[in-house]
Amino acid sequence: MIRALAVYLAITALATLIPADRADALISAHQCAYCHTTHLALGDTLLHAASVEALCLSCHGPAGISVLKAEVHTDSTIAPSFRHTCLDCHNPHDNLPNWKGGENIALVGLDLEDLGVARILTPNSGIRNVVFENRTAFTQGSPDYDGACETCHTLTRFHRNTADGTHTHQVDTTCTSCHNHGNYFLR
Ligand code: HEC
Ligand code: HEC
Ligand code: HEC
Ligand code: HEC
Ligand code: HEC
Repeated sequence: MIRALAVYLAITALATLIPADRADALISAHQCAYCHTTHLALGDTLLHAASVEALCLSCHGPAGISVLKAEVHTDSTIAPSFRHTCLDCHNPHDNLPNWKGGENIALVGLDLEDLGVARILTPNSGIRNVVFENRTAFTQGSPDYDGACETCHTLTRFHRNTADGTHTHQVDTTCTSCHNHGNYFLR
């Protein structure tokens, strides 16, 4: 009885939490029930898994149902080491417009600070805009350096978020054809 009441309240809370524009804004590949459950939720906001990363990897990890395989972006063998998880780069619900007026793909960029445009919280450069409209134009280059694979980098040899370093490495290719998402974006 108490459990039934808790579930009822949870459903009501979910319904009232959803702004009208949020409820129907979802990429066609996903359904609400892929990620949320009103019964037996293990995570916050009625998520199926205890962490967002575990949730995404339950389908996009090696054993998951999705053909699109992904991993976190990490290298623990370099100094300083780094580790970025799904929610550092992806908005779980919908593709967002970017600051240039286009729309990002692959859920890249989050609505940080409620500005309605795709952004990423970088480790060394604060919150920055991210533009990713096309798989073969990962890097936007000068003068903005707001491409999906530039926006965080300050220490890499190639594709930093400033004019520093080299910006000619494999421009206008699909970066992930070599820097595989399933292999931490390394090679
Ligand atoms: C791909 C997984 C996924 C799908 C599909 C999904 N959600 Fe979510 N949802 C999340 C995650 C992850 C969070 C937590 C976000 C956070 O912690 O910042 C969340 C949070 C929420 C929240 C809490 C408020 C907020 O925006 O942070 C609501 C409400 C919500 N989702 C409703 C929905 C509805 C309604 C649908 C279907 C139209 C849906 N979600 C589909 C993953 C998903
Ligand atoms: C229940 C399974 C499931 C879960 C959980 C799930 N996805 Fe997916 N996702 C899919 C499927 C299915 C597709 C479509 C591709 C396919 O058919 O394998 C997809 C597609 C995608 C795409 C490509 C979308 C596009 O428009 O190209 C992205 C990006 C993505 N998922 C990210 C996420 C993230 C981030 C999470 C966690 C917040 C997540 N997914 C959780 C099943 C899932
Ligand atoms: C450092 C940023 C970053 C992190 C962290 C990250 N992603 Fe991605 N993800 C991207 C970018 C950029 C793309 C577009 C890649 C492409 O189209 O080749 C992408 C694409 C995807 C796709 C679609 C792949 C395709 O081939 O269309 C899925 C699914 C996905 N990510 C899931 C995840 C999951 C699950 C996690 C956490 C385990 C995660 N991502 C972590 C940046 C990130
Ligand atoms: C959320 C932030 C973020 C995003 C987005 C991001 N990276 Fe990184 N990446 C880092 C950090 C942090 C480092 C460590 C070096 C630095 O800070 O510049 C790094 C380092 C790397 C390295 C060097 C790893 C090593 O072992 O030396 C490669 C290769 C790389 N990233 C590829 C990519 C690719 C490809 C993309 C786009 C799909 C991408 N990154 C997007 C944060 C990010
Ligand atoms: C054809 C395969 C290939 C493609 C496509 C590719 N890369 Fe690379 N990338 C490599 C190889 C190999 C290395 C390491 C060898 C080297 O130093 O040139 C590397 C190194 C890097 C590094 C430097 C890591 C460090 O040591 O600081 C970064 C960052 C990077 N790539 C980002 C990108 C981005 C962003 C894209 C898309 C614009 C991209 N790569 C496309 C093969 C590729």
